[in-house]
Amino acid sequence: MSIKVEFKKPTTAQVVCLGVYEGNQLPEPTLKWDKKLKGLLSESLKKSRFKGKFNQSLTVFSQDGTQFILIGLGKTSDLNETQWTKIGGAIAHALTVLPSGEAAVEIYDLKGCKNDLLVAHLAYGALLKSWRFEKYFTTKSADELFSLKKISFFTPAPGDVERLFKPLAAIAEGVFLTRSVVSEPGNVIIPETLAKIAETLKKDGVKVEVLDVKDMKKLGMNALLGVGQGSVHEPKLVIMQWEGGAKKEAPLAFVGKGVTFDTGGISIKPAQNMEEMKYDMAGAGVVIGLMKALACRKAKVNAVGVIGLVENMPSGSAQRPGDIVKTMSGQTIEVLNTDAEGRLVLADALWYTQNRFKPQFMVDLATLTGAMIICLGNERAGLFSIDEALSKKLMTAGEKVGELLWPFPMDESYDKEIDSEIADVRNISIGRGAGSITAAKFLQRFTNKVPWAHLDIAGTAWASKDLPLCAKGASAFGVRLLDRFVSNNYEK
Ligand code: BES
Ligand code: MN
Ligand code: ZN
Repeated sequence: MSIKVEFKKPTTAQVVCLGVYEGNQLPEPTLKWDKKLKGLLSESLKKSRFKGKFNQSLTVFSQDGTQFILIGLGKTSDLNETQWTKIGGAIAHALTVLPSGEAAVEIYDLKGCKNDLLVAHLAYGALLKSWRFEKYFTTKSADELFSLKKISFFTPAPGDVERLFKPLAAIAEGVFLTRSVVSEPGNVIIPETLAKIAETLKKDGVKVEVLDVKDMKKLGMNALLGVGQGSVHEPKLVIMQWEGGAKKEAPLAFVGKGVTFDTGGISIKPAQNMEEMKYDMAGAGVVIGLMKALACRKAKVNAVGVIGLVENMPSGSAQRPGDIVKTMSGQTIEVLNTDAEGRLVLADALWYTQNRFKPQFMVDLATLTGAMIICLGNERAGLFSIDEALSKKLMTAGEKVGELLWPFPMDESYDKEIDSEIADVRNISIGRGAGSITAAKFLQRFTNKVPWAHLDIAGTAWASKDLPLCAKGASAFGVRLLDRFVSNNYEK
């Protein structure tokens, strides 16, 4: 559930947001308010641990009940858009102390100049931060649930801000769709239901096709099908196309791992934390949300999203360790561990994507390896690519929106780790090391040398604590990054 955000000409504000620089230096407007309030703000600053550090906030109520939110601006007076967005998140958080679910907010020259773009980004941040997944609470009272419902930002030019906010709101729609499907449990999100949700993008102008088992058998996608064969829920492959660019222009392709639940299969996972494997479809979730964002903001680009949807279950019909499957590419895989299933799904999804669409490049997203979390924790996602230009564009886009990547080596010498003695490739490496890299090297064999990058989002798809722009839970990491990657590099 998201809140409502609107822009209005100033009337009486319930909430006043004021900036404070690091070391509690007060800019002019904050000083003025402090005088008007007879030193209330400076007194409160003295009594608190607030030091004006970036994104710190302190709430002070005046006698008449107005809420003053003091916002830390850090050292510099020159903040970027993403920092504004994060401050918007901090404002939304501060507003949750209000008894009413609505707030009319006056922003005072946070960095010495007040502009429309700044207000639009504050609103964007407030919106992103306020999304909650509370649909399964049935007995909690209203004040136990997230209370904020609506924020009105005051601005002299509401129409202008609205115009700047519109594409940001479209991206937020994509983010929310991703967060909602990733949050849903495995009994609700199965391949069929996730495919149905992807089909709702038709009303946004996206072409959506769903391939079923029969179609995939015909195409020879036995690696993907093998993962799903132990489940009563049949695999699906969903293809989404957004055509906002020139007719003849080759599309950009995004491919997602959509394991709707990963038990590990016959190589079954331990019980502890297995419930987390409901988010093993986050790569697919991000691709759906990205396609939604591109469509909602009518991006001037051709993009395809392909997601491989399967449930990885142990059963009498499940795939065995040692099984050999023939992929759509013709290469054979020795499946030594049924828990290394994401790469089997992506092997066919990647091959299908390049074969059908001849895209400019492919970027895949997958919660692919636990080793990724060992390497990078929850701060950055792994970037695997031999295409330097593509890598640079992705890294830069990530930095711009605060979804950070880190590049890993892809040396050919890693390849021998996944050579099989009985088939073309094995799905786990011979040695114990570099699990995320060898997984990426496996995928590379199914890209047919098309420019490609792989993002391992195992550590970033789920926030284990509140983040500046996201409550604890599904983060939709990748939607804002890839949207920015597209708008910065491929839209005229
Ligand atoms: N979905 C998991 C990876 C994962 C783990 C994602 C934790 C998010 C959080 C993946 O399918 C998997 O099980 N990978 C194995 C590979 C191994 C068997 C080579 C792993 O990482 O242990
Ligand atoms: Mn697995
Ligand atoms: Zn998995």
